[in-house]
Amino acid sequence: MPRSVTLLGYVRWADVMSKTNPGIALLLVFMVAACSGKPQDTTTGADLLKPFKAQLKEALQAGMADGPISAIDVCAVTAPQIAASLSANGVRMGRTSHSLRNPDNVAPAWANEILQTYLEDPAQRRPVTVALGNSLMGHVEPVVAQPMCLVCHGSNLAPDIALAIDTAYPEDRARGFEAGDLRGIFWVEYPEIR
Ligand code: HEC
Repeated sequence: MPRSVTLLGYVRWADVMSKTNPGIALLLVFMVAACSGKPQDTTTGADLLKPFKAQLKEALQAGMADGPISAIDVCAVTAPQIAASLSANGVRMGRTSHSLRNPDNVAPAWANEILQTYLEDPAQRRPVTVALGNSLMGHVEPVVAQPMCLVCHGSNLAPDIALAIDTAYPEDRARGFEAGDLRGIFWVEYPEIR
Protein backbone atom coordinates (compact mmCIF):
# COMPACT_ATOMS: atom_id res chain seq x y z
CA MET A 1 0.00 0.00 0.00
CA PRO A 2 1.45 3.43 -0.86
CA ARG A 3 2.61 5.37 2.21
CA SER A 4 0.27 8.32 1.58
CA VAL A 5 -2.77 6.04 1.67
CA THR A 6 -1.64 4.53 4.96
CA LEU A 7 -1.05 7.97 6.42
CA LEU A 8 -4.40 9.27 5.21
CA GLY A 9 -6.13 6.25 6.69
CA TYR A 10 -4.37 6.85 10.01
CA VAL A 11 -5.23 10.55 10.08
CA ARG A 12 -8.87 9.88 9.37
CA TRP A 13 -9.05 7.25 12.07
CA ALA A 14 -7.33 9.48 14.62
CA ASP A 15 -9.70 12.30 13.64
CA VAL A 16 -12.71 10.11 14.27
CA MET A 17 -11.22 8.95 17.58
CA SER A 18 -10.64 12.50 18.78
CA LYS A 19 -14.25 13.38 18.07
CA THR A 20 -15.57 10.40 19.97
CA ASN A 21 -13.06 10.16 22.80
CA PRO A 22 -10.23 12.72 23.18
CA GLY A 23 -8.71 10.68 26.03
CA ILE A 24 -8.15 7.65 23.81
CA ALA A 25 -6.85 9.84 20.98
CA LEU A 26 -4.30 11.36 23.36
CA LEU A 27 -3.27 7.92 24.56
CA LEU A 28 -2.88 6.87 20.92
CA VAL A 29 -0.58 9.85 20.26
CA PHE A 30 1.56 8.89 23.25
CA MET A 31 1.72 5.27 22.12
CA VAL A 32 2.80 6.26 18.60
CA ALA A 33 5.44 8.61 20.07
CA ALA A 34 6.73 5.89 22.39
CA CYS A 35 6.91 3.33 19.57
CA SER A 36 8.69 5.62 17.13
CA GLY A 37 11.74 6.00 19.46
CA LYS A 38 14.14 3.09 19.94
CA PRO A 39 13.59 1.21 23.18
CA GLN A 40 16.05 2.46 25.79
CA ASP A 41 17.88 -0.79 26.23
CA THR A 42 21.60 -1.50 25.94
CA THR A 43 21.55 -2.41 22.22
CA THR A 44 22.42 0.98 20.67
CA GLY A 45 25.25 1.70 23.10
CA ALA A 46 26.64 -1.82 22.69
CA ASP A 47 26.47 -1.49 18.87
CA LEU A 48 28.32 1.82 19.02
CA LEU A 49 31.09 0.40 21.21
CA LYS A 50 31.47 -2.79 19.16
CA PRO A 51 33.78 -1.37 16.43
CA PHE A 52 35.82 0.51 19.06
CA LYS A 53 36.41 -2.70 21.03
CA ALA A 54 37.06 -4.80 17.91
CA GLN A 55 39.50 -2.35 16.29
CA LEU A 56 41.33 -1.82 19.57
CA LYS A 57 41.71 -5.56 20.13
CA GLU A 58 42.94 -6.07 16.58
CA ALA A 59 45.47 -3.22 16.86
CA LEU A 60 46.72 -4.43 20.25
CA GLN A 61 47.16 -8.00 19.00
CA ALA A 62 49.01 -6.80 15.89
CA GLY A 63 51.19 -4.55 18.06
CA MET A 64 51.96 -7.36 20.51
CA ALA A 65 53.03 -9.55 17.58
CA ASP A 66 55.73 -6.92 16.91
CA GLY A 67 56.67 -6.86 20.59
CA PRO A 68 55.17 -5.07 23.61
CA ILE A 69 57.19 -1.90 23.07
CA SER A 70 55.48 -1.26 19.74
CA ALA A 71 52.16 -2.24 21.34
CA ILE A 72 52.63 0.64 23.78
CA ASP A 73 52.29 2.94 20.77
CA VAL A 74 49.05 1.20 19.87
CA CYS A 75 47.62 2.03 23.28
CA ALA A 76 49.01 5.55 23.29
CA VAL A 77 48.39 6.62 19.68
CA THR A 78 46.03 4.21 17.93
CA ALA A 79 43.45 3.88 20.72
CA PRO A 80 42.62 7.62 20.86
CA GLN A 81 42.62 7.72 17.03
CA ILE A 82 40.09 4.88 16.85
CA ALA A 83 37.89 6.59 19.46
CA ALA A 84 38.11 9.89 17.55
CA SER A 85 37.32 8.26 14.18
CA LEU A 86 34.16 6.70 15.63
CA SER A 87 33.09 9.89 17.42
CA ALA A 88 30.87 11.79 14.99
CA ASN A 89 27.26 12.97 14.66
CA GLY A 90 26.92 13.71 18.35
CA VAL A 91 28.52 10.40 19.38
CA ARG A 92 31.64 10.42 21.55
CA MET A 93 33.34 7.54 23.27
CA GLY A 94 36.43 6.57 25.18
CA ARG A 95 37.90 4.40 27.88
CA THR A 96 38.83 5.31 31.38
CA SER A 97 39.83 3.78 34.69
CA HIS A 98 39.84 4.36 38.43
CA SER A 99 43.65 3.84 38.13
CA LEU A 100 44.65 5.89 35.12
CA ARG A 101 47.81 5.54 33.12
CA ASN A 102 47.11 8.60 30.98
CA PRO A 103 45.48 11.39 33.01
CA ASP A 104 43.87 12.64 29.76
CA ASN A 105 41.64 9.56 29.71
CA VAL A 106 39.13 11.12 32.06
CA ALA A 107 35.50 10.22 31.39
CA PRO A 108 32.37 12.36 31.85
CA ALA A 109 31.07 12.43 35.43
CA TRP A 110 28.03 10.24 34.64
CA ALA A 111 30.35 7.45 33.38
CA ASN A 112 32.57 7.71 36.46
CA GLU A 113 29.49 7.25 38.64
CA ILE A 114 28.78 3.93 36.92
CA LEU A 115 32.46 2.97 37.25
CA GLN A 116 32.09 3.56 41.02
CA THR A 117 29.13 1.17 41.19
CA TYR A 118 31.20 -1.47 39.34
CA LEU A 119 34.00 -1.02 41.88
CA GLU A 120 31.73 -1.19 44.90
CA ASP A 121 29.76 -4.23 43.74
CA PRO A 122 31.19 -6.76 41.24
CA ALA A 123 27.65 -8.09 40.66
CA GLN A 124 26.86 -4.74 38.94
CA ARG A 125 29.58 -5.24 36.31
CA ARG A 126 27.38 -5.53 33.25
CA PRO A 127 26.59 -3.08 30.40
CA VAL A 128 24.41 -0.18 31.56
CA THR A 129 22.52 2.44 29.52
CA VAL A 130 21.24 5.65 31.12
CA ALA A 131 19.30 8.72 29.94
CA LEU A 132 21.48 11.80 30.46
CA GLY A 133 18.91 14.50 29.69
CA ASN A 134 19.16 16.96 26.77
CA SER A 135 18.23 14.04 24.47
CA LEU A 136 21.51 12.27 25.22
CA MET A 137 22.01 8.67 26.21
CA GLY A 138 25.03 7.14 27.93
CA HIS A 139 26.27 3.58 27.83
CA VAL A 140 29.06 1.95 29.85
CA GLU A 141 30.68 -1.48 29.75
CA PRO A 142 33.19 -2.94 32.21
CA VAL A 143 36.77 -3.66 31.03
CA VAL A 144 38.28 -6.64 32.82
CA ALA A 145 42.03 -7.34 32.85
CA GLN A 146 43.02 -10.45 30.91
CA PRO A 147 46.36 -12.26 31.26
CA MET A 148 47.81 -10.51 28.17
CA CYS A 149 47.04 -7.08 29.66
CA LEU A 150 49.36 -7.80 32.58
CA VAL A 151 52.42 -7.42 30.36
CA CYS A 152 51.81 -3.67 30.73
CA HIS A 153 49.31 -3.46 33.62
CA GLY A 154 50.52 -6.23 35.97
CA SER A 155 52.87 -6.12 38.95
CA ASN A 156 56.07 -7.41 37.38
CA LEU A 157 56.77 -5.50 34.18
CA ALA A 158 59.83 -6.37 32.10
CA PRO A 159 62.47 -3.66 32.64
CA ASP A 160 62.30 -2.32 29.06
CA ILE A 161 58.51 -2.06 29.23
CA ALA A 162 58.61 -0.43 32.67
CA LEU A 163 61.13 2.10 31.37
CA ALA A 164 59.10 2.92 28.25
CA ILE A 165 55.93 3.37 30.31
CA ASP A 166 57.66 5.42 33.02
CA THR A 167 59.10 7.70 30.36
CA ALA A 168 55.78 8.29 28.58
CA TYR A 169 53.57 8.26 31.70
CA PRO A 170 55.36 9.64 34.76
CA GLU A 171 52.06 9.62 36.69
CA ASP A 172 51.18 6.00 35.79
CA ARG A 173 48.73 4.40 38.23
CA ALA A 174 47.70 1.50 35.98
CA ARG A 175 49.92 -1.26 37.38
CA GLY A 176 49.46 -4.04 39.88
CA PHE A 177 46.38 -5.50 38.20
CA GLU A 178 45.63 -9.22 38.20
CA ALA A 179 43.63 -11.18 35.63
CA GLY A 180 39.92 -10.80 36.38
CA ASP A 181 40.34 -7.39 38.07
CA LEU A 182 38.22 -4.49 36.88
CA ARG A 183 40.64 -2.46 34.74
CA GLY A 184 38.19 0.31 33.84
CA ILE A 185 35.30 1.03 31.49
CA PHE A 186 34.36 1.73 27.89
CA TRP A 187 31.87 4.61 27.69
CA VAL A 188 29.84 6.16 24.87
CA GLU A 189 27.46 9.15 24.68
CA TYR A 190 24.94 9.39 21.82
CA PRO A 191 21.82 11.33 20.81
CA GLU A 192 18.62 9.68 22.01
CA ILE A 193 16.98 9.48 18.58
CA ARG A 194 19.19 7.99 15.92
C1 HEC B 1 51.80 -3.08 25.36
C2 HEC B 1 51.38 -2.55 26.62
C3 HEC B 1 49.90 -2.63 26.95
C4 HEC B 1 49.10 -3.73 26.94
C5 HEC B 1 49.46 -5.16 26.56
C6 HEC B 1 47.79 -3.28 27.39
N1 HEC B 1 47.81 -1.95 27.68
FE1 HEC B 1 46.29 -0.84 28.38
N2 HEC B 1 47.39 0.82 28.23
C7 HEC B 1 48.72 0.86 27.83
C8 HEC B 1 49.13 2.25 27.67
C9 HEC B 1 50.49 2.73 27.21
C10 HEC B 1 47.99 3.03 28.00
C11 HEC B 1 47.87 4.56 27.97
C12 HEC B 1 47.22 4.91 26.63
C13 HEC B 1 46.94 6.38 26.43
O1 HEC B 1 47.91 7.16 26.48
O2 HEC B 1 45.76 6.72 26.23
C14 HEC B 1 46.93 2.09 28.35
C15 HEC B 1 45.66 2.50 28.71
C16 HEC B 1 44.64 1.65 29.02
C17 HEC B 1 43.31 2.07 29.40
C18 HEC B 1 42.80 3.51 29.50
C19 HEC B 1 42.81 4.06 30.86
C20 HEC B 1 44.18 4.53 31.35
O3 HEC B 1 44.65 3.95 32.32
O4 HEC B 1 44.76 5.48 30.76
C21 HEC B 1 42.59 0.93 29.63
C22 HEC B 1 41.15 0.85 30.07
C23 HEC B 1 43.46 -0.18 29.33
N3 HEC B 1 44.70 0.29 28.98
C24 HEC B 1 43.08 -1.50 29.41
C25 HEC B 1 43.85 -2.54 28.91
C26 HEC B 1 43.36 -3.90 28.80
C27 HEC B 1 41.98 -4.38 29.22
C28 HEC B 1 44.37 -4.63 28.23
C29 HEC B 1 44.35 -6.07 27.81
C30 HEC B 1 43.29 -6.46 26.90
C31 HEC B 1 45.48 -3.73 28.01
N4 HEC B 1 45.13 -2.48 28.44
C32 HEC B 1 46.69 -4.10 27.51
C33 HEC B 1 49.53 -0.22 27.60
C34 HEC B 1 49.09 -1.51 27.41
